[in-house]
Amino acid sequence: MAAEYILKGQVLSFTQSPFGSDADTATRVDEAVAIKDGKISGRGTFAEMQALLPAAEVTDHGDKLITAGFVDAHVHYPQTAIIASWGKRLIDWLNSYTFPEEMRFADRAYADEIANRYLDLTAAHGTTTVCSFCTIHPESVDAIFTAAQTRGARIVAGKTCMDRNAPDGLRDTAQSGYDDSKALLEKWHGVDRLSYAITPRFSPTSTPDQLEAVGALWAENPDCLMQTHLSEQTDEIEWVKSLFPNARDYLDTYEKFGLLGGRGLYGHAIYLEDRERARLREHGAALIHCPTSNTFIGSGLFDMNGLMAEGQRIGLATDTGGGSSFSMLRTMAAAYEIGQLRGTPLHAAELWWLATQGSATALRMEDKIGNIAPGMEADVVVVDLASTPAISQRSTRAADLWEAIFPTIMMGDDRAISEVWINGKRI
Ligand code: GUN
Ligand code: ZN
Repeated sequence: MAAEYILKGQVLSFTQSPFGSDADTATRVDEAVAIKDGKISGRGTFAEMQALLPAAEVTDHGDKLITAGFVDAHVHYPQTAIIASWGKRLIDWLNSYTFPEEMRFADRAYADEIANRYLDLTAAHGTTTVCSFCTIHPESVDAIFTAAQTRGARIVAGKTCMDRNAPDGLRDTAQSGYDDSKALLEKWHGVDRLSYAITPRFSPTSTPDQLEAVGALWAENPDCLMQTHLSEQTDEIEWVKSLFPNARDYLDTYEKFGLLGGRGLYGHAIYLEDRERARLREHGAALIHCPTSNTFIGSGLFDMNGLMAEGQRIGLATDTGGGSSFSMLRTMAAAYEIGQLRGTPLHAAELWWLATQGSATALRMEDKIGNIAPGMEADVVVVDLASTPAISQRSTRAADLWEAIFPTIMMGDDRAISEVWINGKRI
């Protein structure tokens, strides 16, 4: 039997960004979606999809929501086992929990165990693409790419480079960071659905020599993404200023080493100065909002409204395990709450767009993933909008689709994810 399927339900897709346009103008809802050989072949009425794929296997999901799989644009898969660790501020959280755990990834068997556990957990939460930091160990990169390859998943990952301000056993050097990254990039980038991201952790853990070396690697491989952290906490920013006394600001510690570009992903980006905002926008770099992490580690309130209004490219992410949940539903809820604390609440359509097409656009993969449209890769989730009694009793009173979706955004978790499709296969 050919790999042809039709899913019936409420198929939600975006025709444009809901930021700056009306939610109903930005979206469409169809009766069915057709999937063939790993790709979306169409969306429309059930009759139209049956005409398109007459031999397809049909599943009727009733009034469940059918949408693109979630795209989590900034995670640390090696922090899976230490998620939700009590802590004070970023730097002592890193030293107390993160660095000791990351040390364990020198062991390939442990890296494999966590990589598989992580991808099982994220898929159960409806996330079909992640962009992950690994550890300094090449084994940690091989582990996550191998696990993703087995699942047919589109993911991005890279070896985390750190050559200072990290414990013994968790540092590379400027040269070995470059050499190992280059070898991993050549091994994995563009294989199946896998992409390599050049990954300096953040400027406090890299010497200027290392930043220069990874900047050179990016210049040699400009089609790779580059991921790092930027302006997450006020005391972190002070530390950066003391380590780089000649830098104009935090972003300048990357910019002067060739680490600012349109394929750059900058996690957190909370306390940006005007010059940094201007330079990020000029380059079309992506800012990744990590709302559960920003509240959990006490970092601060991301300026979604202001940054969107000035035309920044923005993605959404859990930041596992600084973030306190694997769920992009919970992450959307936290983004909503942070918007409320700033007096600028986000619409459900904006939240859903950020978790799918917005993050895909940040990863420069909006032509492949993050939406349901003909020709896109078939990473799809079926969402139950009445997954618990508490959600059900609210959503059944909803006046329109957005009101029916919003209780699942605010109160939903993995129980809301009925079915997950990766690369046209039900998993
Ligand atoms: N900054 C540098 N490393 C990390 C990390 O692992 N998590 C978070 N939240 N911020 C960081
Ligand atoms: Zn991070």
